[in-house]
Amino acid sequence: MQVNEQRLNAFLGKAVGDLGAAVSAVLVSIGDELGFYKALAAEPLTANELAVKTGTNERYVREWLANQAAGGYVEYDPATQQFSLSPEQALCLANPNGPADVPGAYAIVRNLFHIRDRALENFRSGQGMEWGEHHECLFHGTERFFRASYNANLLSSWLPALDGVVGKLQQGARVADVGCGHGASTILMAQAFPQSTFVGVDYHDASIETARKRASEAGVTNVSFEIADASSYNGGKYDLIAFFDCIHDMADPAGAARHARESLNAGGHAMVVEPFANDRIEGNLNPVGRVYYGASTLICVPVSMAKQGPALGAQAGEQRLREVFIDQGGFTKMRRATETPFNLVLEARP
Ligand SMILES: C[S@@+](CC[C@H](N)C(=O)[O-])C[C@H]1O[C@@H](n2cnc3c(N)ncnc32)[C@H](O)[C@@H]1O
Repeated sequence: MQVNEQRLNAFLGKAVGDLGAAVSAVLVSIGDELGFYKALAAEPLTANELAVKTGTNERYVREWLANQAAGGYVEYDPATQQFSLSPEQALCLANPNGPADVPGAYAIVRNLFHIRDRALENFRSGQGMEWGEHHECLFHGTERFFRASYNANLLSSWLPALDGVVGKLQQGARVADVGCGHGASTILMAQAFPQSTFVGVDYHDASIETARKRASEAGVTNVSFEIADASSYNGGKYDLIAFFDCIHDMADPAGAARHARESLNAGGHAMVVEPFANDRIEGNLNPVGRVYYGASTLICVPVSMAKQGPALGAQAGEQRLREVFIDQGGFTKMRRATETPFNLVLEARP
């Protein structure tokens, strides 16, 4: 085997970039928690000024800032020795209500280190790991990371892409948000459509407790939450049943689809939001696929395998989801309503 020096250097360059990102993961999480990004978004600061402003130690702050500037997460002006965030960096790093919450995603990464030894054992034993067995930073990170994409897309493009759903919601519809986690999507929809009633369903009791708290803090009254499995929640007939980034996690996705089919009115809609994926592995070998396959290996596949599920994985793809909803779930039609670089939005009809 002959080593090609150019290809060797190209691979090492990539690996060093990845190593820098991996080492910096904990630093992003620390900067987020200590309020560094928010402080820098407000004004350019020297290391000492940032330390004073955030009540932290200057020596650590200086080293953190140099790491962040080397990685392109903050800007540095050698003339003033001040660090700052560009408007784009501020939007992604310091705005919890913006269209991307990068530190929120790093809370998910933080969880992966917590469960690393258990994951290693699972590789050997083939056992799974329930959603509720993860560190709580996963639940908060998921809420933050996904909420950003709901803020950016749900009301403006995903719901309007479904056939006639916005009109129904404006007039007053019954909606279930299954696998709702902390209820970010449920609350956003409930605020936008006060004539409709929303039920968030999740089998993880701690997530439902937080969802109830979030709804009460937001002052929304047309929303309630139920601790239940996706294949057995109550409530009779719904006009819309939504699954946001959860069907692939489930131990019985076909059972969830069947229950949705039975719980929908004849003219109802199921909205299935899933991570963007092509049907074949070679179509997903890109940066977004890399993130999703990683999270899938350590979070999504084990959640389904905890109860001997089919482990669809976070890159299931449209074809596999059609099998779940049409062949196994009894829906008659399914189409791709819209998509973003991170999400597929599918509409299924009874
Ligand atoms: C990736 S999280 C998404 C949470 C939420 N939809 C969001 O977008 O923030 C997946 C959620 O599915 C829930 N889940 C997994 N299997 C479930 C099941 N069988 N029944 C109900 N919820 C389930 C988990 O508890 C978790 O809250």
